Parts: sequence; C-alpha cells; structure tokens
Amino acid sequence: MAADLLTGKVAIVTGAAQGIGAACARALAEAGAAVVVADLDGAAATATATELATATGMTVASAAVDVADAAQCRALLAGAVAQYGRVDILVNCAAVVVMKPALELDVAEWERIFSVGVYGAFACSQAFAQQVIARSSTGAIVNISSITAQQSAHGRAAYAASKAALDSMTRSLALEWAGHDIRVNAVAPSHTATDRLKQAIGEGKLEHDVIVQRIPMGRFAAPEEIADAVVFLCSDRARFITGQVLAVDGGYTANGGWIPLHEQIEIERG
Ligand SMILES: NC(=O)c1ccc[n+]([C@@H]2O[C@H](COP(=O)([O-])OP(=O)(O)OC[C@H]3O[C@@H](n4cnc5c(N)ncnc54)[C@H](O)[C@@H]3O)[C@@H](O)[C@H]2O)c1
Repeated sequence: MAADLLTGKVAIVTGAAQGIGAACARALAEAGAAVVVADLDGAAATATATELATATGMTVASAAVDVADAAQCRALLAGAVAQYGRVDILVNCAAVVVMKPALELDVAEWERIFSVGVYGAFACSQAFAQQVIARSSTGAIVNISSITAQQSAHGRAAYAASKAALDSMTRSLALEWAGHDIRVNAVAPSHTATDRLKQAIGEGKLEHDVIVQRIPMGRFAAPEEIADAVVFLCSDRARFITGQVLAVDGGYTANGGWIPLHEQIEIERG
C-alpha cells in the first residue's frame, strides 16, 4: 500500500490490541493515518499502541472501551475528536468468538456475541457518523465480517448469524449515509493466522490440514492481507465503493466445496 494513502486522516480501530485489529491499526498508520487502538483490554491496547508508534513513527494512541456499551462508544469518539479534532476512519473489528455446539449454547453467550459484534459495531458507527456529519466532513467505515456469514461451520450458530447481521447492517448504513459522504463496507476474511487461531489449532479445536484443503490458495490468510484490503476500502481509491462485503479468502467462498480440492484437480486431469 502507498505510504501516503491516508496522510492527515485519523482512524479508530476497535478490537485492535491484537490479531487482525492490530494489523489494521499498523497498516493504517503505515499509510499515514493517526490511529487510536481501542480495545476491551486497555493495558494490551496501550502496549500495542506503543509498539506501533515505535514501529511506524506515527501517532498511535490507545483507549479502553467495551463496544457493547453505547455510552463508552460515544466517549471513545468524543475523546478522539477532542484530541485530534476529527475522526475520518472507523474499523469495527471487536468480536467475541464462541465455538460451541448449538445444543449447548446459552442465551448469555448468544447475547454477548451479538452485543459486541453487531450492536457494538452499530454504536461506534452511529457515534462516528454523528461527528462526521457535525463537521460536514467525509468518512469511511469498514466492518470486519467473516466468510462464516455465508458458509457456516459446526459450533458457529451465533457467531455466523452475527456476521450475517453485520453484513446486512453494512448495506443499511451505506445507503442511509451515502448522502452524507460516509462509505460503509465490510471485509470478510477466511481463516487468518492470528495467535487466537494458532492457539485453537494447538488445542486441537481446528485442524489446519483439513481447512487448507478447502481453500483454493492452499493456506491461511496473514493478518496483513486482511489489513491491506481494509486500507484500500478506507482510502480514496475506493471512493465509489459502498455497501459491499469484500471476501479476502484465497478463493474459499468461490469453491463449491462439494468435493475436496485435490480430488477436483484429479478429476479434471482425468
Ligand atoms: N482470525 C480469523 O481467522 C478470523 C476469520 C474471520 C473473521 N475474523 C474476525 O476478525 C476480527 C478479529 O479477529 P481476531 O482473530 O484478530 O480476534 P482476536 O480475538 O485475536 O481479537 C479480538 C480483539 O477484540 C477485543 N474485544 C473483545 N470484546 C471486545 C469489546 N466488547 N470491546 C472492545 N474490544 C473487544 C479483544 O480484547 C481482542 O483484542 C473479528 O471480528 C473476527 O470475527 C477473524
């Protein structure tokens, strides 16, 4: 990505203390934006912000926030506006992942997944849009969705439904706010090699070799590959793109999947 793509912009990334959120915060800073690393874990957010500021030479601040609480989302936006005078970019990355059979899922787990992943993204987006409109400025929102919104897997009943809701909300906000020059898009990653995913594989909850067989490009995404798509959608290079969900998935969702990839290739070869 071009180093000056987002020069002068101010960005907030939620769920940015680690994983894909941290990679997005880094890529936005590398593209020239001042960034606020916002996370439920305030101490981890501060550590990540310090690391990214040193690595990129950019202004990277941190904020502790539970995005499920609308008052905290409003305070997050107000704090950033007070500090920088503006916020141009919002990346809604915070989410709770619960992998559990549907028969065992309880209402508290369902509600937390939705209140963080869907309502949290809405509350931050609403506070963001209000301050963009108040300044008669322009803005870009990117929601981090998942391929599970389209193609689920065992143990994902609530999580997959929450990502489908996020995709739908992306379209609704895009059309409501297009007239205010606020674009709203989503990026839907496939399996991405974050520490959390590596841990799930280490614990035997996911099987690397089985999953990559399903991915035409034959590997997990790197967090930086998701972040590059986010930077693009936040930039003026995407100035006529809104209401879209961009799969960054190595071809996962293009694959009908009715037969393992290596067998498809063998059939083609005869
Ligand atoms: N890693 C993958 O394979 C993958 C694939 C598809 C989509 N995603 C999506 O990408 C995003 C990031 O995933 P990840 O693997 O980096 O996750 P992660 O668990 O490593 O990071 C999530 C971050 O969100 C923060 N968070 C949780 N609840 C919060 C709250 N209420 N308020 C603020 N912050 C909160 C956590 O503290 C954590 O730092 C999520 O939206 C996830 O659904 C991940």
